[in-house]
Amino acid sequence: MGGYRSSYECSSLRKCDMSILHIAALLLGICPAGTDGVDCEISPSHGKALIQMRQAMNDAPMKSCLSFIHIPKNMGGTVEIAGNIAFGVNPADSNDTCANWAAGNRTSSNQRFWGYCDDHLNCSNRINISHCGVPAGTDAPVDQCHFQHFPPAWDPTLAESYVQCDTFCILRHPVDRFISSFLWVHRNEDDLSYCSPKALETYAVKHLKDLSVLDCVHRNRLNGCLLVPQVYYVFEKGDPQQPQICRHVLHMDSIDHEFPALMKSYGLSVDLEGYWNHRSNDCHDFSPTRKTIKLVEDFYAQDYEAFGFSRDA
Ligand SMILES: *[C@@H]1O[C@H](CO)[C@@H](O)[C@H](O)[C@H]1NC(C)=O
Ligand SMILES: *[C@@H]1O[C@H](CO)[C@@H](O)[C@H](O)[C@H]1NC(C)=O
Ligand SMILES: *[C@@H]1O[C@H](CO)[C@@H](O)[C@H](O)[C@H]1NC(C)=O
Ligand SMILES: *[C@@H]1O[C@H](CO)[C@@H](O)[C@H](O)[C@H]1NC(C)=O
Repeated sequence: MGGYRSSYECSSLRKCDMSILHIAALLLGICPAGTDGVDCEISPSHGKALIQMRQAMNDAPMKSCLSFIHIPKNMGGTVEIAGNIAFGVNPADSNDTCANWAAGNRTSSNQRFWGYCDDHLNCSNRINISHCGVPAGTDAPVDQCHFQHFPPAWDPTLAESYVQCDTFCILRHPVDRFISSFLWVHRNEDDLSYCSPKALETYAVKHLKDLSVLDCVHRNRLNGCLLVPQVYYVFEKGDPQQPQICRHVLHMDSIDHEFPALMKSYGLSVDLEGYWNHRSNDCHDFSPTRKTIKLVEDFYAQDYEAFGFSRDA
């Protein structure tokens, strides 16, 4: 998915190692040592959001297990497969029934499987073995998706079932994520007529134009949660001022060192190497139009604000 430049402006943070000191230095506009003069620009909101995250993370004692909040289109499949195989799951069990399998095959009492195999996940509106819906009585009665993709901010029962462990999740720049959802929708098509900036724009207009997130939920248009803004996986009520549901917020652009560091701190031997879940689309290297970018930036304004993603339009 190399088309769009990976513009999460943590290019500085990636090289800078996200310590509080470095973030403080970034806020002051100082380039920490070892950054090769990379762009150290950082918006105040970006720095503030990261410091809040960092603070919450540092204050609470570590729990003995780690659960994974799978934000769709952010390499969650790779993480789940790598983790669950490391935890003893047979790759053939990689489907909707894995959580049942996991329940009977735990090697230790605090063993926590990830995503589709996480048998501790519970939601208040379980549609069937694999799907959760928006809880009854809320403002958003329609949408539903796989339980491991359901945004925990919309269902306190689900959120509660994650935070029995420390949670982690992976963020991705909204434009890259949106393109990935488009490619996923077309993943089985041999005919490449979908593969153009114009077709991507049509998809953007269809799903994002003049719509709020709640409009989409009401009309079941979030494509099986593929398009849900990332704030609904990270913060209670999707609000950066509220407590974090996702304790360890990693970034897809710097996963190569953030993931091993997290595994090490929890004593887990999970290695992503060899499990990269590359989609087999033949569609490469097309750029989103300005209109597409603008639609993404408007629809995902909360994500840009909360996480400091760079804007282009
Ligand atoms: C997973 O799916 C495959 C194909 O649908 C099926 O044959 C297999 O039995 C499933 N695994 C489990 C554990 O149900
Ligand atoms: C545990 O895993 C084995 C091997 O995949 C499977 O045959 C068995 O049904 C699983 N146990 C339970 C309780 O699901
Ligand atoms: C799952 O959530 C429902 C609804 O809140 C609750 O009735 C049920 O007891 C929960 N199940 C488990 C295993 O926690
Ligand atoms: C669960 O419900 C969803 C949505 O209605 C449906 O797409 C899916 O096939 C169902 N899965 C099973 C295992 O029944």
